[in-house]
Amino acid sequence: MNLKERLLNGKTTIAIFGIGFVGTTIMTVWLRAGARVIAVDKNIDVLEKLRKGESPTNEPHSKRAISKGLKENKLIITSDHQTAIRKSNVVIIAVPVGLKNKNVNLTNITSVINSISKEMKKGIAIIVTPTIPIGTSKKIIKIIENKTKLKVEKDFNYIYSPERISAGHAVKDIEKNYPAIISGAGKKSTEFGKKLFNIISSKGVIEMSTIEAAEGEKIFEGVYRDVNIALANELAIICEKNGLDFWEIRNAANSQPYSQIHKSGIGVGGYCIPVYPYFLINMNKKSHEYTNLIRVSRKINEGMPRHAVKRIIEITNNKFRSKKKIKISILGLSFRGDIPDKRLSPTYEIVKMLTNIKFDIFIHDPYFEKDKFLEKRATITKDLRKCLMDSDIVILATDHREYYELTDSDMKKLLKNETVIYDGRNVIQKITKNKIIKIGKG
Ligand SMILES: NC(=O)c1ccc[n+]([C@@H]2O[C@H](COP(=O)([O-])OP(=O)(O)OC[C@H]3O[C@@H](n4cnc5c(N)ncnc54)[C@H](O)[C@@H]3O)[C@@H](O)[C@H]2O)c1
Repeated sequence: MNLKERLLNGKTTIAIFGIGFVGTTIMTVWLRAGARVIAVDKNIDVLEKLRKGESPTNEPHSKRAISKGLKENKLIITSDHQTAIRKSNVVIIAVPVGLKNKNVNLTNITSVINSISKEMKKGIAIIVTPTIPIGTSKKIIKIIENKTKLKVEKDFNYIYSPERISAGHAVKDIEKNYPAIISGAGKKSTEFGKKLFNIISSKGVIEMSTIEAAEGEKIFEGVYRDVNIALANELAIICEKNGLDFWEIRNAANSQPYSQIHKSGIGVGGYCIPVYPYFLINMNKKSHEYTNLIRVSRKINEGMPRHAVKRIIEITNNKFRSKKKIKISILGLSFRGDIPDKRLSPTYEIVKMLTNIKFDIFIHDPYFEKDKFLEKRATITKDLRKCLMDSDIVILATDHREYYELTDSDMKKLLKNETVIYDGRNVIQKITKNKIIKIGKG
């Protein structure tokens, strides 16, 4: 019986640890392929949702795959790591890896590895998917070998395969859009990984010569984006200072295929782009000159919320100086438009700066009505009208689709004529009556 047949008739079971954005997508793909899946998460709300046949994310296909999986007894939901390990032959780890004081924080992965090691049996395959610093897989393998006394390649397979998905089309990204990146601890693991991923990826796999190369691949993708966004931000600031319009110049420049200037914006958030550059910066701490461009890019991007607030205060100086209370509202908490993900959102930084100078802040976001990480002086609502009503300054921080539709007639009922709007994402096209300060436009 080949691997695909074993998966389809339930002889091979896949356990997925961490059912967040990435884990939900992986689970959906394997359920759609007909496999038996054990979904493992420590968050009770996530487990509750799954048990009700709901998806923890809004990704297309996932709700349907979950309810079908439950109906056909192909989806098991648990918080118990040990049970999941005992009942599975393939373990996919999809827990988040972030930063703590700009150093990698591997707590989530090591906690999963530690509990896996307690029940690990011969013949199991461990697949790690989060983006991790180069060299981390080797450390993970060592931990498993020390704790279990099993040997990689001989007793178990280890595969590193970074996930390369984006919100909105994540399932399609795995199934159709991109080849899977595969690397194994040795020949046996790599061969297993290739067979497994070829079942779900119609674009096939890219086999990397080493695990370190696969770890580097995903970091490079993120660093490429960070450096290019920093370039766009620098060009935008040059335009602001010299009375030019970055957006007009960018459009014209990008009419040539060799120019792909990115968008400038009020800040770079999420758990990917602001995080991965530090994996390379920290790896080369002793020889900082190797990471000059990466470090400067990070500095530019991390400075964007401050740059925006400084510019708003400069231009609306009279409002800030007048003793009367002014209302400041911010549109968007998500770090990117049309997704319910607020991790490392630049909005937090903007709120912090403004509340530090004693302003109350009103935030709108279509996805959030409460947030425990916001400062005390900030309130968040899903009611756009309530947020905007009588604002003196509006800061547009996220390119949610609904903000593109805002028009003069919407604003007439909500804002005063002298209200100033700072557009940190180049979104506003249909408001002409209020003063608009646009990022990148001098
Ligand atoms: N979000 C993205 O767009 C994206 C894209 C590609 C790759 N990645 C990578 O994938 C990783 C995961 O990202 P995500 O967006 O899915 O995270 P997430 O926060 O959406 O989900 C992580 C899930 O793991 C669970 N979890 C954490 N520790 C656990 C533990 N010890 N045991 C069981 N469950 C645990 C959490 O409860 C949560 O449900 C990131 O660190 C990143 O490297 C993310």
